[in-house]
Amino acid sequence: MDFESLSADLRSLQARALKEIAEVSDPASLEALQIQYLGKKGDLTAVLRGIGALPAEDRPRVGAVANEVGEAVKGALAVRGAELHAQVQALRLASEKVDVTLPGRPVGRGTLHPIPETIAAITEVFGQFGFVVYEGPEVEDDLTNFQMLNMPPDHPARDLWDTLYVDIPGHLLRTHTSPGQMRVMQTTRPPIRALLPGRCFRYEAVDASHGFEFFQVEGLMVDEGTSMADLKGLLDEFAHALFGPRKTRFRPGYYPFTEPSVAFDVECVVCGGVGCPACSKSGWMTILGAGMVHPVVLQYGGIDPERYQGFAFGMGVERIANLRHAVPDLRYYLENDLRFLDQFR
Ligand code: DAH
Repeated sequence: MDFESLSADLRSLQARALKEIAEVSDPASLEALQIQYLGKKGDLTAVLRGIGALPAEDRPRVGAVANEVGEAVKGALAVRGAELHAQVQALRLASEKVDVTLPGRPVGRGTLHPIPETIAAITEVFGQFGFVVYEGPEVEDDLTNFQMLNMPPDHPARDLWDTLYVDIPGHLLRTHTSPGQMRVMQTTRPPIRALLPGRCFRYEAVDASHGFEFFQVEGLMVDEGTSMADLKGLLDEFAHALFGPRKTRFRPGYYPFTEPSVAFDVECVVCGGVGCPACSKSGWMTILGAGMVHPVVLQYGGIDPERYQGFAFGMGVERIANLRHAVPDLRYYLENDLRFLDQFR
């Protein structure tokens, strides 16, 4: 082994290394090359093992060549490393690029549930006549739900409302929104124009037209000279606003808290009055109960029946919603089935 052949080995090692480094195409292979050439057990070290066999004066010369070769390989590794790093970075940036011109994914819009939507439609009409929305409690007392509405304990008319009681003595789940009338009268002075939407509860076997929870909207007007004609005129406007220009009629009815009491009918919204299964072939549909507020009820409300008269009405929201949207079964309203609800978008 002499200086010439050893330095020739070193130079050819450099040439091979530079060529392989230039050809490498990923950072992992580059690192492998670094280990292969410059590592402790690498090729350069292997060549340098021959140094011991050289005459002492040649050793520094070979050392200098080895240093050059080592530096050259290191330099090439650094340059290629930087290139590869830039390539990887560029690829990553390209793959992460956001195309801000892509159309967005559509987000489905929600909509009002048909019950609040119908309550809104009802309050809208009466609002135009100056009616203001109030709310009463869902847990009522027997006094307000029944007694002050002219139904003392054991009054047979209580059978009209199958009642759900709660564990608080003297309290129940309101069976209708009518007790709200009493709460308005006790806190407001005439002239009164009140609308009371709300959830009601009854001990009912559930079927297509009965629920144990359901909604009503109650109306109350109290003023001097309020008459049955005012009631009929107002309800006509209401029926026309919701169901178009149809005939309406009052039928005699009975409620303990109104005298006289009526049922308010609209010409069948399905057949137009000819007679069909929806109106039991009568041509008419009852949409609410109403009447002149009983003087006793006014008195309970702290209002002088000699000076003031009032009318009241109460309607089932599900029934109105059924007619507006041709829904055949009120159970749909509380099932939260999207196939049903999506139809109201
Ligand atoms: N509260 C009655 C019911 O639940 C409906 C009703 C009838 C309300 C006549 C009234 C009314 O205000 O005057 O069936």
